[in-house]
Amino acid sequence: MGRAGVKVSPICLGNMNFGGSADEATSRSLMEKSVGAGINFFDTANVYQKTVSEQILGRWLKDGGPSRRDRLVLATKVYGKVGEDLNDRGLSRRHIVRACEDSLKRLQTDRIDLYQCHHWDHVRIEETIRAMDDLVRAGKVLYWGTSNFKAWHLTEATLLAERVLNAPVPVTEQCPYSLTNRHVENELAPFCMKYGVRMLPWSPLNGGRLSGLYRKGKPIENTPRNQSEGFRKTLEKNMDVIEALTKLAEEQGRTLPQLAYAFLYAQPHVASVIVGPRTMEHLDEAIKALDFKLDDATVKKINEIVPPGTSPDYVGW
Ligand SMILES: NC(=O)c1ccc[n+]([C@@H]2O[C@H](COP(=O)([O-])OP(=O)(O)OC[C@H]3O[C@@H](n4cnc5c(N)ncnc54)[C@H](OP(=O)(O)O)[C@@H]3O)[C@@H](O)[C@H]2O)c1
Repeated sequence: MGRAGVKVSPICLGNMNFGGSADEATSRSLMEKSVGAGINFFDTANVYQKTVSEQILGRWLKDGGPSRRDRLVLATKVYGKVGEDLNDRGLSRRHIVRACEDSLKRLQTDRIDLYQCHHWDHVRIEETIRAMDDLVRAGKVLYWGTSNFKAWHLTEATLLAERVLNAPVPVTEQCPYSLTNRHVENELAPFCMKYGVRMLPWSPLNGGRLSGLYRKGKPIENTPRNQSEGFRKTLEKNMDVIEALTKLAEEQGRTLPQLAYAFLYAQPHVASVIVGPRTMEHLDEAIKALDFKLDDATVKKINEIVPPGTSPDYVGW
């Protein structure tokens, strides 16, 4: 995982649907299938499904005993609002330490392998770095990373941690990145290559817009994610791009999700792609894409449809 010594599978199982559109039994099946397919990396957050996602993962880890827990690289996040108190959110030392204790309890483990700042906060980053440093020294956290940070946020965090505070540096940045959302290629990607940080793309299917379900002129069937006005608007706006990408996938005898995953697996600045399955079939697609190596001609066509660094489906991140 970049400059961190720990090794992760190219697929990371995102747990955001767990306790929401995926019930506990389905979530358990997804976790078991993942482990069986060689996936050793799971991602959740304290705020997913109001903490239920972490609870489901914790029960499953407990049931599997130490052998299940020890083989996994477990990632969770801190920042989001978890209570009504003024300090029940953010990246202050006070909240980070408390949130870490709470996540450890829910996950039923004694350590978090990758603890991520879910968003940038307006506290001084030195305070956040020191809090992470203390958790690492206490053995409660092994590595720390960021999410939704801009390149300058990460540059500041990395240089301060390494050169001023003599503290552990962030090793990963979890960012929105997909075939139709490529703006992280402008500044974050070169930053990552220079400083050894690795991206963990979230929403690799752009929240389901690249699911392959949407074709020009075809009626839309409802799924849990596709019913909001915002989703439908961005879908409509980008239908030509989605249609062109779907045809490109079909020319290769592949599906659009497989093309979307293969594109991300091939990026040198990416350590692992965080997939968000709701069903076993969704997970299958991510696994099937592992042997899909994009040739130069396909990459060229992708770049013609969505030029590097652009985001036709930019939704505000
Ligand atoms: N750090 C952050 O701020 C942040 C933000 C978002 C997500 N994440 C992480 O990233 C993970 C993935 O994000 P995401 O869930 O948005 O990923 P995504 O893959 O872009 O979207 C997942 C949704 O796409 C649809 N889908 C997935 N695979 C499909 C397939 N093969 N065929 C048809 N539809 C398919 C499903 O929608 P339906 O359920 O509607 O069918 C599924 O719920 C999350 O679990 C979480 O761990 C992090």
